[in-house]
Amino acid sequence: LKAMVGRSFISIDELSNEELRGLLDLSKAYKATYGKGSSVDPVTAPKPLTGQSMAMIFQKRSTRTRVSTETGMNLLGGHALFLGPSDIQLGVNECMKDTANVLSRFNSLILARVYGHADILELAEHATVPVINALSDKHHPLQTLADLMALEDHFGDLKGKTLAWVGDGNNVLHDLMLGCAKVGMNVRIATPKGYECDAGILATTQSLASENGTKPVFTTTDASEAVQTADVIVTDTWVSMGQEDEYKKRIAEFAGYEVNSELMGKANEGCVFLHCLPRHPEEVTDEVFYSDKSLVFPEAENRMWTVMAVMAAQLGRY
Ligand code: CP
Ligand code: NVA
Repeated sequence: LKAMVGRSFISIDELSNEELRGLLDLSKAYKATYGKGSSVDPVTAPKPLTGQSMAMIFQKRSTRTRVSTETGMNLLGGHALFLGPSDIQLGVNECMKDTANVLSRFNSLILARVYGHADILELAEHATVPVINALSDKHHPLQTLADLMALEDHFGDLKGKTLAWVGDGNNVLHDLMLGCAKVGMNVRIATPKGYECDAGILATTQSLASENGTKPVFTTTDASEAVQTADVIVTDTWVSMGQEDEYKKRIAEFAGYEVNSELMGKANEGCVFLHCLPRHPEEVTDEVFYSDKSLVFPEAENRMWTVMAVMAAQLGRY
């Protein structure tokens, strides 16, 4: 993980396979040390980020990302500041460049959840401390770490396993497909026409897939076809934050993409279900969401272990 020191974390493809492995291993070590059920006394537990601080810019809502990061930073001995849209001058009186410069003088890290991906790139360009992308319209790399950790905890080695995405070709899918290719998983994607994933990210994933010896990414508009041979089915909301005006249109155009027991039944025996949350009622039935095949709550918990690993790696203090 040494090469991650001082670097920003914007998307999963920026990690080498070894860095991705190292982050997942460190996340598991943190869970063992700081998790419920650990015998380590929280008072004497190591606090490698003592004296470090992180500014957290949130342009949109969050439960998991905000709480996991603030709490995780605290467990490691550091301090995190939540800066919501009306807390700082950004966007009203001050531009991203100046905000990046000023926050870099106070803090050791800056995390940001933004609408446009260009904002996170601009922040990283002008910050003199490492930046963490906590979701943009294009990428959600922290989520992928949590998802891969949940899958490894369930299956062990993921090489040769198959992931099927059924739903919107969005930010969550983008990092997940890149991450799957890096750990040797096959990827199958069903999106409605007009909701395909980013073409550039698909091309990058195809080359990672061939480098890592997986099958080429398979894309279709047919959910039933995508889930054939799947060991895990993943979906996300059909209406991401910022797309609320398109709600009616999207619900209509995603007809047939609900993850339900019938669809799960077309996948491999033992197929599990993931969802980054928050979940909306239309994309997955309660029967699947609350079933013993659903890993959604361990997946959510892993958001904390994995972001702890990212922060520690960027600061070179474990
Ligand atoms: N999965 C995820 O990023 O959730 P939040 O929006 O609650 O942070
Ligand atoms: N695709 C969703 C993910 C939320 C965690 C969104 O961008 O709103």
